[in-house]
Amino acid sequence: MRIGIVGLGFVGLSFAAVLASKRYQVVGIDLDKDKILKIKNGYAPFHEPDLDQTIKTGLKNDLVVTDSFSELDDCDFIFITVGTPQQSNGKIDLTMIKRAAEDIGKIIKKTDNKPTIIVKSTVIPETTERTVLPILEKYSSKKNHIDFDLLTNPEFLRETKAVEDTLNPHLIVIGGSAVAANKLKKFYAKLHPKTPIITTNYQTAEIIKYANNSFLATKISFINQIASICEAIPSSNVETVAKAIGMDPRIGNLFLNAGPGYGGSCLPKDVKAIIQFSSECGIRSSLLDAVDQINDDQMKRIVSIIENKIGNMNRKTISILGLAFKADTDDVRDSVSIKLIELLLRKNASVVAHDPKASNNAKAILGNKIKYAKSIKDALKNSSCAVILTPWKQYSKISNSDLKDMRKRIIVDSRRLLVDHKLNADYYAIGLGKR
Ligand code: UGA
Repeated sequence: MRIGIVGLGFVGLSFAAVLASKRYQVVGIDLDKDKILKIKNGYAPFHEPDLDQTIKTGLKNDLVVTDSFSELDDCDFIFITVGTPQQSNGKIDLTMIKRAAEDIGKIIKKTDNKPTIIVKSTVIPETTERTVLPILEKYSSKKNHIDFDLLTNPEFLRETKAVEDTLNPHLIVIGGSAVAANKLKKFYAKLHPKTPIITTNYQTAEIIKYANNSFLATKISFINQIASICEAIPSSNVETVAKAIGMDPRIGNLFLNAGPGYGGSCLPKDVKAIIQFSSECGIRSSLLDAVDQINDDQMKRIVSIIENKIGNMNRKTISILGLAFKADTDDVRDSVSIKLIELLLRKNASVVAHDPKASNNAKAILGNKIKYAKSIKDALKNSSCAVILTPWKQYSKISNSDLKDMRKRIIVDSRRLLVDHKLNADYYAIGLGKR
């Protein structure tokens, strides 16, 4: 069996590498030549734990990476894993998926095997049937169910756990005709014998992905709202609240870490896209509007907390600890840190940022508008306030000696990493009431 994977981002590359490491014949396609070169040399173009090693194992087996779509001509399964970013109005941008469908269509026009094409990218309901299918049929001059099959198969992996989640997914969802779904079901049942598989139609599979990410975002905004309330209650602690309510099996204990708000390339974009979609359907998305609003407010609250502590920010140095949207990644897409820095710069603050992995990616966005410190100590030098945003392990080891050269020892800790540290500082943590 030969498997084609179009789009080598977190999802596509992890999938390609894991399948090849398990001795499937895999061809990974991406239009970015630099990316292809890095992967061919055994490296992921982004930081993702365990991925480089998995790529290297895959390359030793039968992993081919290329920018040439013609390699897809004898594939049994062709997975589409290109990005579906958001446009400035929150709507999903389908440019890459349309291009992939066109290129695949042109290839299957010339083949006589009957491939199954699978949309793994996150797409708004009806995209598979109304956008991908007509393009495939147009460019291939062939018909779904007769000359090829088209399925939807949303992905639930997390960045920083991409390999682990690809090896052990908690669920597989397949949307499409029962006959076609059965072929993919057999493939997955062999690969992941213990994972439950839900088969349904295209549209339901597509909305499942949005429902899943929106629910995760809802949990985070919920706990962030409770965190704000806790901050107004003397001695209260949102962590204990989260631990307690998480013990109710109807609630569950995951995704209840209060923080600076959710970021990354998925939750913010998917919540906005489903809000936009529901408005097009004439449905008021009041709950999701609130989820999105609370997320925005959380960042603005952090600005107010800093202002309450140091007054006017003009030319004062503020240290930002953490640029990545979560720990163990160099990804800064839709990172709360970047948005917060932009707000601080508008108030004329001088920002010095530190991140163990993501400084270069942040530089590509912020350029020399801020300074980038190589160490935590350098980041804190002459600072009037330090803000902890990404929960990198090294930040939970900050001690009084790191704070020595601060101009004012004020710390705003959005992840409560330093709660028990007895710091000689004015310490404010998200979700903790005054002690
Ligand atoms: C998210 C989902 O968790 C994946 O299941 C999904 O497949 C993926 O989006 C996607 O659609 O591709 P990811 O973007 O990697 O995965 O990041 P998460 O681990 O969900 O974290 C998102 C944001 O929420 C981060 O900024 C994180 O710091 C924040 N978060 C998460 C909290 O503030 N509190 C929590 O309790 C959990």
